Parts: sequence; C-alpha cells; structure tokens
Amino acid sequence: MCGVIGYTGGGRRDASSILVRGLARLEYRGYDSAGVAVHTGDGIVTRKLAGRVPDLQALLARSPVSGASGIAHTRWATHGAPTTRNAHPHVDCDERIAVVHNGIIENADTLRRALEGCGHKFRTETDTETLAHLIEDSPGETLEARVIAALELVVGTYGLAVMSADEPGKIVVARQGSPVLLGIGDDEFFVASDASAIIEYTRSVVHLNDGDIAVLTPQGYHILDRESHVQLRAVDDVTWDLEAIALGPYAHFMQKEIFEQADTVRGTLRGRLMFDEGVARLNGLNITPDDCAAINRITIVACGTSWHAGLVGRQIIESLAQIPVTVEYASEYRYRRPLPASNTLTIAISQSGETADTLEAMRAARAAGSRVLGIVNVVGSTIARESDGGIYLHAGPEIGVASTKAFTSQIVALALLGVYLGQQRGLPLEARRDLLCRLAQLPTLVSRVFALEPHVRRLAEEFVDARNALYLGRGVNFPVALEGALKLKEISYIHAEGYPAAEMKHGPIALIDAEMPVVFLAPHDEVYTKVLSNMQEVRARGGRIIAVTTEGNGDLGGLADHQLRVPATAPLLSPVLTVIPLQLLAYHIAVLRGCDVDRPRNLAKSVTVE
Ligand code: G6P
Repeated sequence: MCGVIGYTGGGRRDASSILVRGLARLEYRGYDSAGVAVHTGDGIVTRKLAGRVPDLQALLARSPVSGASGIAHTRWATHGAPTTRNAHPHVDCDERIAVVHNGIIENADTLRRALEGCGHKFRTETDTETLAHLIEDSPGETLEARVIAALELVVGTYGLAVMSADEPGKIVVARQGSPVLLGIGDDEFFVASDASAIIEYTRSVVHLNDGDIAVLTPQGYHILDRESHVQLRAVDDVTWDLEAIALGPYAHFMQKEIFEQADTVRGTLRGRLMFDEGVARLNGLNITPDDCAAINRITIVACGTSWHAGLVGRQIIESLAQIPVTVEYASEYRYRRPLPASNTLTIAISQSGETADTLEAMRAARAAGSRVLGIVNVVGSTIARESDGGIYLHAGPEIGVASTKAFTSQIVALALLGVYLGQQRGLPLEARRDLLCRLAQLPTLVSRVFALEPHVRRLAEEFVDARNALYLGRGVNFPVALEGALKLKEISYIHAEGYPAAEMKHGPIALIDAEMPVVFLAPHDEVYTKVLSNMQEVRARGGRIIAVTTEGNGDLGGLADHQLRVPATAPLLSPVLTVIPLQLLAYHIAVLRGCDVDRPRNLAKSVTVE
C-alpha cells in the first residue's frame, strides 16, 4: 500500500531524480497517483498528478524542479478518489510543511473538523492532509518536536515523511504500523517503504520500530522515541542486489518470477537438507525439543496466496508430524479473540512480512499465550522481527503484484518444517530421508514444467474470451485450485472460482455448460481416481476440461480436452509443480487480454492497511 521515499544529500545529487527513480521501484505498492515535494532552497515545490510514475516523470520534464532534499509518494487510494488533488505530498495552509504518508489516520474526520474550526483550509479529501495541518498547528522549536506533538493526537497507522520550508535539508520520519526504513549513505540519507527504492545508492538500512521518530539531515540521522529520548537501532545490510529487481529479458515481473522458481525453490532449500540424519536444518526456529513436545496444536494465519500456502501446509504438517493444524484468515482470526493458546504454535505466513492483518493476528496469538513463528520472504520485515523464530524463504524480492514464487517457496518451507516437526514426533528416518530427497529434486522438476509453456499459451488463446472459469482439486491440490482461480481473477479480471472437486456437486455444477472452462488438478496421488469421477461429472454436462496431471498417469483423452503433464514427485509436494501451469495460464490470458499484468487494477502488493 502506497510507496514512500525521501532523500537528503546536501546538494550531492538532485533530489527530484532520485525520488522519481525510487518511486518507479515502489510502484508495485500502489499506482493510482504520484507526486514529489522538493526543497529548492527557497521553499517547498510540489508536483503531482493522478496517474503512474512515468506520467509524473513527464510532468517533471515539462516543469522541472530541483533541490537537495525532498519526499515523494505513489498512492493506493483509501480516503478520497485517486485524483491529482488527492495525490500526495499534502501541504499545510501556507505550503510550508509537506507530508507523504502510508497508512490510515482513523480519527481524521474528528481532527479535520477541529482544525477547520480553527480556520485551517483543507484542499483534499484525504486523511493525510490532516497531518500537515496538525503539524502546522503544533508547538515546538523544531520540526521533529512539532511532529511528535501532532502525533500525540493521531489514532491510526502511518509510515510518514515530513519536510518544512523553514528547515532545509531536514526530513522527519515516523512509523506506527506501516513499514518504513532509513537508508544510510555517505553524507546522504534516505527514507523508503522498502529497500528496493534505494538499493542503487546504499545497502545499509535501519528498520524502524513502531513509535520511532527519525530525523535525517545531510550531516547524519538520529532516532527518537515519543519522549524525545534517543534510540539506538541496528544498521542491517541488504543481502540482494539491483539485478534481483531488474526485469532483464522478461516482459513482466510476474513472468520473470514464474520462471525464477527453480532457483527460488533452490534458495529456500539451500543448506537445510541433512540427508544422513534425515533432518531439516532450520536454525532460525528457536524451538527446543521440550517446546516441540508441548505443542498440541498449530494455527496458521495468513492472507491471500500465503493463506493458500497455509492450506497446503496443513496437510503436510498433519501428515508428517501428526499435529492438528487449523488455517485461519488473519483478518478473521484477529477479531475473534483467540482462546488461551499456551500449547499452540502459531505460524504467520507472509511474503512481505508487513501485511497488517497477518501482523495483528500474530500479535493476538502471542497475547493469548502462543509461541509465534514467521514464514517470511522479506528479511528484516516486521513479522520477521516480531516472531519468536521462523524460516526465511530466500526467494529474493517479489515485485509482481500477483504472488508466484513466494507461494512455491512457502510450500517448500512448510515441508521443511513438517520434516523438522516430524522428526521430533517420531516420523521414521526412512520417510524423512525420502521426503528430503524429493525436496532436493524439486528445482530440476520445476525447470521441466516450463516445457509446457507453448501448450499453455495455446490454451490461453482458446480461453481468452472466457467470462468464468472453475478450478477443481482435492486434498493437497484443492488449495492449488484456489490459487489458480485467484491468479486468473487478479490479473485477467475473469471471474474464477476454486472448489474442492467433490463439493462442486453441491452448487457450482449448475454453472457448467459448453462455455465453462474447468481446470482439474489431477496429479497422481491417493485421490486421483476420485478426481477422475468428478471429471466424468463435468464431462457429462459438456464442460471444457483442462487437466493438470502427472507424467506417467494414464491418458485422460476420453475425459479431458487438454492435458498438461507435470513430473511426478511426492504427492504432498505436488502443489509446487501443479501450480506452475496455472500461473502461466493466468499470465498468458492476461497478456492476450491486454491487461497490465504487474499492476492489476485496484490491487496492491503489500497490504499494510486492514
Ligand atoms: C496481497 C497480494 C497477494 C498476497 C497477499 C498477502 O493481496 O496482492 O499477492 O498474497 O497480499 O501478502 P503477504 O505479503 O502477507 O504474503
């Protein structure tokens, strides 16, 4: 949700070009409007518009603005339509204070009424503008003192950056519930929603905690708490490089990330497979054998694609470790007042590590007495830092709004956790070794699935005009059906539903006719013959069937119109392979329909508001 960037460098470089380059890298967080505010030396000048970052670039080419410091924003609208007026940065009455903000000010209406009552003139419908007027109205000798005073009155979430015309070169940053980090250069300092925006200038970052206020000038930075006491925070190194966020030869980040999956799965496995001992080495878990023995239940909390990975994880963990697992939508779980959970292990799954609902669900579980693990991709993210332990995916930055490589790596991480817990719970050595060997083969098998692409592209041409689609699977492939349907609707705007294949009889079967593509997940496993029966039921009603099945399975020619065969693996791991043709199908259909694959309408990659 919304990308924020700021720069101060004492004139070393032009702030406005750094800000716009950074915004282009943050655009995946929101892309309905964009803007910059630059301190020119004489005061603050803003340029903003409804539209994308390239439109802002063109505006700046027509009306350039340069200076030594500035702040900028790319927006995913919450309060107020995505218009030029509502685009950030927002300013106070005299245009001497400028603010960019990611998050939601929950008491904005009350504050606005009070400020208007005191004569403040508002120009926009946004909650953020309230902050600019509130800071204008607040006492204090310095900008940071005024920001601290203003935030005392604010209820809500924010990652924000503020500048004042009266203090050239200074940027004040505040964090409460929305991610923001500092970038530390040589005599130049940055603030950004994530490291991708600043990695070309520095790899040294400081992750802020909730409640932190940071003050950046070209001479240095310091961090304060709300009582203005100085706080010390570690400087971390970003472990990936610019190449990881470059598009390379690909047309879209989603395409790049689909084809990266052999490498990203390898990344998740690296250094973790101990074949002789039949052990998954997971150094970050921080669980003792006694802790493990005490667990009598696991709750997985997640959203979106990560929730689908959780559903696969349930079956893996229950099967390997014999521990009952429930999988919860984080947004539902957090408001259900979790029951006391001292013997429950809660696992938060999140690519970004910043999803607001997942974070709050995790905090609710902890408050109920649960130990909390994070399965997270972004190193140093809030969920990673607040967990008792966890597993990093090491899948590299995921930029495409539709998650792909994170999903397969999440399943691999859950399988490693399943082996780990299985070992503690009496899973025999041979079974553990077998699964570790199957995991080790996955990167090679993933590469082989890509050979299906020409076939999938032809299918995309055939189904490009579909108005609805049904995805059906059973067992560990039911979540893959959900994920395939989600991918299609996210990026191609075709209505699609995922269903347990047998449950189809209780409703969705009424939708089936010759117009309806039905994608069956039918890999070789213990429910294979059951899936074939469900296919018969669709066939009998004239549905058009695409079957994703396993090499070596019998010919489904009499049943399916199209067959996509993935290599055989352990049934529990099959989702890592069966999901890839579905990712490719959604991708090609969206491209053929002319959709903006990496920036689907209304979506944002990192959902940091609830
Ligand atoms: C958004 C993204 C999805 C993602 C979900 C959860 O909706 O568009 O791709 O699955 O958030 O995100 P997380 O970072 O917690 O995995």
